[in-house]
Amino acid sequence: ATARIAQPAAPPPAALFRERVLTVHHWTESLFSFTCTRDPAFRFQAGQFAMIGLMVEGRPLLRAYSMVSAPYEEHLEFLSIKVPNGPLTSRLQHIRPGDEVLVGRKATGTLVVDNLLPGRTLWMLGTGTGLAPFMSLVKEPEVYDRFERVVLTHTVREVAELAYHDYLTRELPQHEFLGGMVREKLLYYPSVTREAFHTRGRITDLIRSGRLFADLGLPPFRIEEDRVMLCGSPALLADARGLLEGQGFVEGSGSAPGHYVIERAFVEK
Ligand code: A2P
Repeated sequence: ATARIAQPAAPPPAALFRERVLTVHHWTESLFSFTCTRDPAFRFQAGQFAMIGLMVEGRPLLRAYSMVSAPYEEHLEFLSIKVPNGPLTSRLQHIRPGDEVLVGRKATGTLVVDNLLPGRTLWMLGTGTGLAPFMSLVKEPEVYDRFERVVLTHTVREVAELAYHDYLTRELPQHEFLGGMVREKLLYYPSVTREAFHTRGRITDLIRSGRLFADLGLPPFRIEEDRVMLCGSPALLADARGLLEGQGFVEGSGSAPGHYVIERAFVEK
């Protein structure tokens, strides 16, 4: 017989902050968000992501998560799907206030305003949990300083998956400091693909048909004026990228700003 010696759980490595869960909100059976404490030394730009996770069997188990919270907010917020057999999310979905979560010290990512050339309208096209980085960006005053108009589209399968819908339509426009900018510049455009809703369809189809532009009263994408941020599934990114590149849009990065930037939304395998 093999002797099993209990090992004391190793503390997380110094590359990780240990934070406390403050609140948990379950949007649907497969979607939740949570807030946690934030170490004052944790710095990030709106639109970036960090490694988030839990200690599992004495080791940190981490996945990439975009910050939903803005850089100036006291607490951190994250949006997550629940994957039944996902190594992390099958556990993370059960967190409660007071539990410990791990946050990687280094934030990174391409969905930052510095990676875009100057323009007039910023389009943020998100599907599913690809909304997360855009929640941070719509709370970032610099976004409104750089663009005359900001459009946030969020496409999901079912209405209940329109996370933060009430916040975006009711609270943010009344926000003490951001409200004025939001009311003047932000357009929120939710759409649903598999259920009745006032706006049905994939964002790529709504772009191709011209309905998105007609609904918002804006002209179709023009390379001189429009800048685009994409966040969603690999299929969405490929299709939307094709649409943009067909019009000559060039992808931006940290080394060279461009007309559009993309990031894959967190999906646990
Ligand atoms: P659909 O219901 O037609 O698949 P998911 O939950 O799979 O990440 O999807 C989130 C949303 O993204 C859904 O509304 C889905 O529409 C849409 N979607 C999936 N693939 C694409 C794609 N290639 N282009 C545009 N939208 C897509």
